[in-house]
Amino acid sequence: MACTTLVLNKSTLLIRTQGLPAISVKCFSTDPDPKPIKSLSLLKKGTGGRSSFNGIVATVFGASGFLGRYVCNKLGKQGSQIIVPYRGDFGDVHRLRLVGDLGQVLFQRFQPRDDESIRKAIKYSNVVINLVGREFATKNFSLHDCNVEFAGRLARLSKEMGVDKFIHVSALNADPNPPTLYIPGGSKFYRTKYQGEKEVKREFPGATIFRPSDIYGQGDRFLRYYAHYFRSFQQTLAVYKKGEETIKQPVFASDVAAAIVAACKDPDAFGKTYQAVGPKRYYLSDLLDWFHVIMKKTHEAHGYTRYDLRYDPVMPIKLIITSLFPGTPMGDISPERVEREGHTDIFRKSLPTLEDLGVQLTNMEDQVPWELKPSAAFLSYDEEMGEFEKPVPPNPVPL
Ligand SMILES: NC(=O)c1ccc[n+]([C@@H]2O[C@H](COP(=O)([O-])OP(=O)(O)OC[C@H]3O[C@@H](n4cnc5c(N)ncnc54)[C@H](OP(=O)(O)O)[C@@H]3O)[C@@H](O)[C@H]2O)c1
Repeated sequence: MACTTLVLNKSTLLIRTQGLPAISVKCFSTDPDPKPIKSLSLLKKGTGGRSSFNGIVATVFGASGFLGRYVCNKLGKQGSQIIVPYRGDFGDVHRLRLVGDLGQVLFQRFQPRDDESIRKAIKYSNVVINLVGREFATKNFSLHDCNVEFAGRLARLSKEMGVDKFIHVSALNADPNPPTLYIPGGSKFYRTKYQGEKEVKREFPGATIFRPSDIYGQGDRFLRYYAHYFRSFQQTLAVYKKGEETIKQPVFASDVAAAIVAACKDPDAFGKTYQAVGPKRYYLSDLLDWFHVIMKKTHEAHGYTRYDLRYDPVMPIKLIITSLFPGTPMGDISPERVEREGHTDIFRKSLPTLEDLGVQLTNMEDQVPWELKPSAAFLSYDEEMGEFEKPVPPNPVPL
């Protein structure tokens, strides 16, 4: 038996024709030459669980990040083979071995500026998912390098290698000219995310794009950001216009991941742009008050006070301090992040959402034992009318 297995393993051939992955097996030298299998979906086996194969071989760029682990987990559970390209230490990604069955999670070193290393990572995949993105510039990579150039490069190489599906994660509010709120010149993140989408569509017109709002979940940069001691100053929290004119529609990480996996299988997702937003819209002020109630940092108990960021003398000093450590901003505070938090999430009625991919959206209130429910505010952009619907005012007495 052991001998047969050895012979089978030795004679497994991987052939690639016209950019399509093809796998065929020749057990003995006397066997006739095998016909290459032109589609991985023909190799499907099992009932769809972790130990089956659902026909998806996905390369997930950015798998070491926050959303990456949710996506890999969902892919692995459904019997996909996952290729995890990584650039840093193997220790950053090795825990992802557990997301799939034995031998179904493979790791490949890559460099974002080296085409050959990227080709190696996507060579045998029929799906490529791009989760690479940054909210702040680092020493070696500007926001443009990361959000535009790399996205375009990956889309180009995926097209060249004959990948069937390319999924790109952008950001809600991606805009060529985002309004300036706090930082001179406005948000470079939103601008580069918009340019990244354009670049991806140019190189891979059938790409599926997701535009997430703020994503919350374990290890996120939304709830944790506001909970960090460096974000507040003693008991006070400075927010743009006290957060009373900003509306957010946060989405659960697991819902975004479920939609990405659904898009890998859904032929209707081809070429579409989805808005990854949660089921409810909240005033930022309501959300922040709510978070502080849960953290037991109420005004009465802790002295929590929210005031206008524009009159805060401490934030500019904090931004100078964090810019001294460009790769790891303290408490995730960066000029970009502070600028972005004042932007209202713009929901476009004309674009599909995660529900169109069959995802049942998770309510934020179900995730944590909320004691105070904020008033849901509505503000969506009607492209036909060319105007915003009027929001309802925030809670008059927050605490
Ligand atoms: N989280 C949110 O609330 C949110 C909201 C809107 C949009 N998004 C977008 O959703 C995507 C995933 O978000 P996330 O929260 O998972 O991000 P994340 O935790 O910051 O992870 C980013 C990933 O991108 C990789 N990466 C960053 N710069 C890179 C570079 N120069 N070269 C190669 N790889 C690089 C990182 O790899 P290393 O580990 O090697 O650094 C990491 O795997 C991103 O595009 C992000 O912009 C996120």
